[in-house]
Amino acid sequence: MIRVEDLVYQYEVKSERVLNGISLEIEEGEYVGIIGPNGCGKTTLIRHLDGLLSPTEGDVWVEGMNTRDPAAVQKIRQIVGMVFQNPDNQIVGMSVEEDVAFGPGNLGLPPPEIRKRAGESLAIVGMEKHARRPPHTLSNGEKQLVAIAGVLAMEPKYIVLDEPTSYLDPSGRKRVLRVVRELNEKGITIIHVTHNMDEIAEADEIFVLNEGRIVLREEPAKVFTRVEWLRGLGVDIPKVTELMWQLRQMGKDVRTNIFTMEDACLELSTLIRARTP
Ligand SMILES: Nc1ncnc2c1ncn2[C@@H]1O[C@H](COP(=O)(O)OP(=O)(O)OP(=O)(O)O)[C@@H](O)[C@H]1O
Ligand SMILES: [Mg+2]
Repeated sequence: MIRVEDLVYQYEVKSERVLNGISLEIEEGEYVGIIGPNGCGKTTLIRHLDGLLSPTEGDVWVEGMNTRDPAAVQKIRQIVGMVFQNPDNQIVGMSVEEDVAFGPGNLGLPPPEIRKRAGESLAIVGMEKHARRPPHTLSNGEKQLVAIAGVLAMEPKYIVLDEPTSYLDPSGRKRVLRVVRELNEKGITIIHVTHNMDEIAEADEIFVLNEGRIVLREEPAKVFTRVEWLRGLGVDIPKVTELMWQLRQMGKDVRTNIFTMEDACLELSTLIRARTP
């Protein structure tokens, strides 16, 4: 499990604190969404989870290891994989295969094991046919899948994704989200930062951050019913939830705790049927 205790963080060049006492636990196997307005500290928070940043105050524990402990950092980085927003910043190899092999290569594993891991990881994300391609010939969605494969090749327990779809077109986005969900079904814990709430409508739990604090920690259905509160924070809500909320404002008898397209279709067809004489 990951445990964050009273985490305070202040960038050296900034006078005020960016994280103001965050405490949370993430259990193995969970799918956790993190949302909040621009600049609220989401990226700063998750950069603590693999020790990229070290707390100004408080502690971050990964499977009982403290991220402040230099002896633990390599192990922590192996079990907590990070996927960032811009796929181009994450590709290091001259070919897809070489890129995915980079992490396990750094672990000093024997070459056959490295090749095996690279091949298996590419197959999991559906990119095995592209192993020999130079990464710059891939679409952004494909690059992001390769970045995920690179993380998988380290055999992580946790994958942290920071707005992984914001550079992707709709089909790339769909592929990446499907792969992330499949990885969670296989038991990998997912921590997914996003501005797009549709992406985390099926998460187990959502943390809402504001001004460096966790202001809400709930399952999606409960988070998304707070339409006006979320809007006040400057957070977008799923389009279908917004639609239901607007209909409700117009006096229509619809549920507002709807956050998937399927549920919205069912609710709307009930509404239409009720109107038909
Ligand atoms: N390297 C840095 N040096 C100084 N200040 C920083 C640095 N990175 C972020 N900040 C500041 O810290 C605050 C939190 O930034 P952070 O990137 O964690 O927010 P975020 O929630 O990820 O925002 P976004 O939704 O825009 O990605 C902001 O005020 C930002 O300007
Ligand atoms: Mg960010």
